[in-house]
Amino acid sequence: MLGNESNYQDYLDALMTLFKEVYRVLTPSGSFWLSLGDSYIDKHLGLLPYRLAIQLVDEVWFVLRNQIIWNKMKGAPSSIHDRFRNCYEPFFFFTKSASSYYFNESAVRLEAGKSHLGKRGAVVTSSGVSGISYRRKVKRSSHLSPEEKKRALTELKAVLKEVEDGLIPDFRMVIRGENRVTNGDSTRLSGRAVELQEKGFYFLKYSRDGSLLGDVWDIVDSRKIGSSHYATFPSDLVRLPIKACCPEKGIVLDPFVGTGTTCLVAASEGRKSIGIEINQDYLPS
Ligand SMILES: C[S@@+](CC[C@H](N)C(=O)[O-])C[C@H]1O[C@@H](n2cnc3c(N)ncnc32)[C@H](O)[C@@H]1O
Repeated sequence: MLGNESNYQDYLDALMTLFKEVYRVLTPSGSFWLSLGDSYIDKHLGLLPYRLAIQLVDEVWFVLRNQIIWNKMKGAPSSIHDRFRNCYEPFFFFTKSASSYYFNESAVRLEAGKSHLGKRGAVVTSSGVSGISYRRKVKRSSHLSPEEKKRALTELKAVLKEVEDGLIPDFRMVIRGENRVTNGDSTRLSGRAVELQEKGFYFLKYSRDGSLLGDVWDIVDSRKIGSSHYATFPSDLVRLPIKACCPEKGIVLDPFVGTGTTCLVAASEGRKSIGIEINQDYLPS
């Protein structure tokens, strides 16, 4: 039985046999999400999820698009005293195609914060930017010419008006001599570095649609100690891949469905699903 192999390579090979079949039935625009718990072998952390991920890329031609870190927030209770507690698991996002796969990024964006009016009646962005500190930095700058300062203050006023009118939720102002530029200061590397050099400043405006979710997901591990099933996934861990990667009429397949979290979440998101489970006791009656 899967999981009872005498060594880890046989276990990974058995999983590879199954995942080759998953690759075969996956639609060309589909994606494959892999969560595999790691284990210690003779006191060594086995790195099994990573070994498997490398095999999947090298032998099955899956495209690895992300390694999500599932931060379980509290980690499993542990009686171990000679190493740190394990509080995260990698969660791999593979696709069949390198570019023409389904990914609905707007379904999983973080909600944009709301601006409000500060004590003096000036607009303040969701992260607390009111423009006062930027205005001060521009005025005091020894790296901007008087003309550049004038232009920076005019444009800052216009950006604050965009916040006030609800056109953008937030922004950052990067000023010559004050900050390092994203992607480095080299003008050969970044168009923004060029803007900073020629104009003296630029703005980073946040999208009203919120920001794209990052690759560290804080999701409390809801698994109950002593429950009949040992490894039910938290709904949110399953929900995000389904919303992002399965179209409305698509089908979700979980070949290790356990008590059926994946299928329940798929149904709640209006997607069809198929679950496979070897142990009948886990299936909901
Ligand atoms: C980590 S749990 C599944 C969690 C589940 N996907 C969820 O969403 O909550 C792994 C499950 O795979 C099942 N399993 C193990 N070997 C299997 C096999 N060869 N075929 C099908 N299911 C298997 C186990 O019984 C167990 O329920």
